[in-house]
Amino acid sequence: MKKIVILTGATGGLGREFLKQMLKEEIDEVWAVARNEQKLLQLREEYGDKVTPVPADLSDLEGIKKIENMLMEHRPRVAFLIHNAGLAKMGNYNDFSIEEIDKIINVNCKAPVMLTKICIAYMGRGSRILNISSASAFQPNPYINLYAASKAFERSYSRALNAELEGTGITSAAVCPGWIDTELLQKEINGKKVRFPGLVTADRVARQAVRDAKKGKDMSVCSLYVKCQHLIVKILPQRLVMKIWMAGIGKYLKES
Ligand SMILES: NC(=O)c1ccc[n+]([C@@H]2O[C@H](COP(=O)([O-])OP(=O)(O)OC[C@H]3O[C@@H](n4cnc5c(N)ncnc54)[C@H](OP(=O)(O)O)[C@@H]3O)[C@@H](O)[C@H]2O)c1
Repeated sequence: MKKIVILTGATGGLGREFLKQMLKEEIDEVWAVARNEQKLLQLREEYGDKVTPVPADLSDLEGIKKIENMLMEHRPRVAFLIHNAGLAKMGNYNDFSIEEIDKIINVNCKAPVMLTKICIAYMGRGSRILNISSASAFQPNPYINLYAASKAFERSYSRALNAELEGTGITSAAVCPGWIDTELLQKEINGKKVRFPGLVTADRVARQAVRDAKKGKDMSVCSLYVKCQHLIVKILPQRLVMKIWMAGIGKYLKES
């Protein structure tokens, strides 16, 4: 039986680092999932035959079904399931179209839950689920409201799932990084260069996440900056936490 990894968002900044980490494991294939087939083929060229490109749109039920059908056909053992694909957009609640809202919720919330449900049947002792949430899951974040709420969903689902899985040998870890230097970040808003406090590399996040997941932890936080943030937002009233956040991002939102 083949031992595989399912990695979504494999072509993105963090996805590529997870791919590098997974290729160090004793596995036969990494099913690399994303929409852009060309980029997936480039990954295979760069990292070799263990990379199996799986072009699929996870905002669409068809994309999820495609992975389910592949699993039914090949019946592998899923050693790692990494829900890394994610969509983010900064803006006022009114700046989002209905279609954008649908896509963000589908990719960030529905896809991980559905894929988990499908994949657990192919897992066993030692299998690891990694849900790439975010430090923005720790607090309500105006102007990245939908993204932060979707990441809070992912974190909460992941940790409760881990409790439900107790005794099976399968674990689920919520990975909660702060800002990571990838293309997801809007580097300029309204002509202003954005500062990202506590910015870390994708390599550091992926390494720590895999290490923590292997230890069976239900949460992975890779930097002291985010660990402090996590503690502070637990202690302070959420209204105050939001005020502090707004003070930090307010300058980017005004057109002046
Ligand atoms: N960057 C940060 O500061 C940061 C901080 C905390 C958490 N995170 C989380 O880390 C994860 C990875 O982020 P990143 O920074 O690496 O983002 P990224 O560079 O923008 O990569 C996003 C990946 O998701 C894939 N994707 C997007 N929509 C998809 C869809 N509908 N179906 C299938 N795949 C889709 C993209 O490929 P295609 O476009 O080809 O589909 C790409 O591979 C995300 O979950 C994000 O929320 C990021």
